[in-house]
Amino acid sequence: MYQKIKGTEDLFGQEMKYWYWIEERGRKLSLLYGFTEIRTPIFEETKLFVRSVGQDTDIVQKEMYTFDDKGGRSITLRPEGTAPVVRAFVENGLIATGFPQKYFYVGPMFRYERPQSGRQRQFHQFGAEIFGSPSPLADAEMIAFVDRFLREIGLVDFEIHINTLGDPEDRLNYKEALKKYYAPHLGHLCDDCKVRYEKNILRLLDCKVDVEYAKGAPKLVDYIGENAKKHYEESKKFLDGLGIKYIEDPRLVRGLDYYNRTVFEVHHHKLGAMSAIAGGGRYDNLIKEIGGKEVPALGFAAGIERLVLAIKAENVHVDDIVTNEVYIAHFGGDDVKVEAMKLAQQLRREGIAVNLEIMERSFSAQLKNASRTGAKLCVIIGENELEKDIVLVKNMETGEQLEFEKNFVVSGIKDMIEDMK
Ligand code: HAM
Repeated sequence: MYQKIKGTEDLFGQEMKYWYWIEERGRKLSLLYGFTEIRTPIFEETKLFVRSVGQDTDIVQKEMYTFDDKGGRSITLRPEGTAPVVRAFVENGLIATGFPQKYFYVGPMFRYERPQSGRQRQFHQFGAEIFGSPSPLADAEMIAFVDRFLREIGLVDFEIHINTLGDPEDRLNYKEALKKYYAPHLGHLCDDCKVRYEKNILRLLDCKVDVEYAKGAPKLVDYIGENAKKHYEESKKFLDGLGIKYIEDPRLVRGLDYYNRTVFEVHHHKLGAMSAIAGGGRYDNLIKEIGGKEVPALGFAAGIERLVLAIKAENVHVDDIVTNEVYIAHFGGDDVKVEAMKLAQQLRREGIAVNLEIMERSFSAQLKNASRTGAKLCVIIGENELEKDIVLVKNMETGEQLEFEKNFVVSGIKDMIEDMK
């Protein structure tokens, strides 16, 4: 027996209803907000991610699925969606087609992390990016979109955390201040933090072990320059105007290097350790970095597996997937079979989900199967019915059986289904 790779999941049956629910609402809402879909390959040149996500980040240091293809190129399964979208935007000359440009995407991402509930090695993101706007209006619109999306899929038990990382020069000064603050404590920090101290000092702030030290650390907000501060204040003002609730979290730094100014994360109260259901922010310097011009940008991504967990934790009602409103049982020669198939086609054209018997079971086994699969109605056609130009329809809930002339069977079935709602 083969087994799936650790940290991956097979999805099937009614579990899919959550995915349809999220993806359909995500797509519809994206279009309403002016985002169009972009699909990029699931693998890219390794250096794209090293350059954008950042050489010293956990993602690049420990989590990438990187391999050489048969042509000797270093390839990486995308750990996130922003860098590929930016690459596509630059490569396809979209940069010259006017601003703003707004894209959304849905698809699998790959990170070699320790699997646990809500954390997988192959997971899926729904995300969106806005290119071209330096305005705090765009920050507020992005966060408003995330808030709307989460509510649209039925969630209410979440918190939006926001912070500003300032501009790159602000961060240089801040990193210096952190180094000074942590230096005397270095011997007491966890092993990860000792490495982070050298390589990515901002990450010390969201260490789960050295929480106490982080509490006393200098605050980034005190190092933010005037322009970035004004941008942040205006973004918040717009969010306030929209009535969108958020929590300011001066320790929120995010795990990817490309951010500047506004960053945000959404946490769900019922998800335990893996509570971040979405995250994002501004990355005004990334497009230039990847080879284009200076184009301000921002975006977000939500983890679909975590959204599913949150929907379940909040007991959101999600409609079942329906594939078997009507079961068509038949018993007889080829002419009966053709009649049964024709009726199945007619009903499906009317939008009714039909399960046509294709196993050629005995008649009683067919009826048993109709009830086992949970059909609402069971149509019965045999030689006798064919001869009289009629069809029997059994209501599987009440056991009641009606006889329809062939010409009236489709409308009769529609009425019966309507009555059962
Ligand atoms: P991120 O915070 O790394 O941001 O990921 C976004 C979301 O993906 C997380 O909040 C979480 O819900 C989900 N996620 C991440 N890793 C896993 C995992 N191993 N298993 C399950 N879910 C996971 C980004 O990826 C940025 N590209 C977001 C962005 C877009 N920033 C600007 N534009």
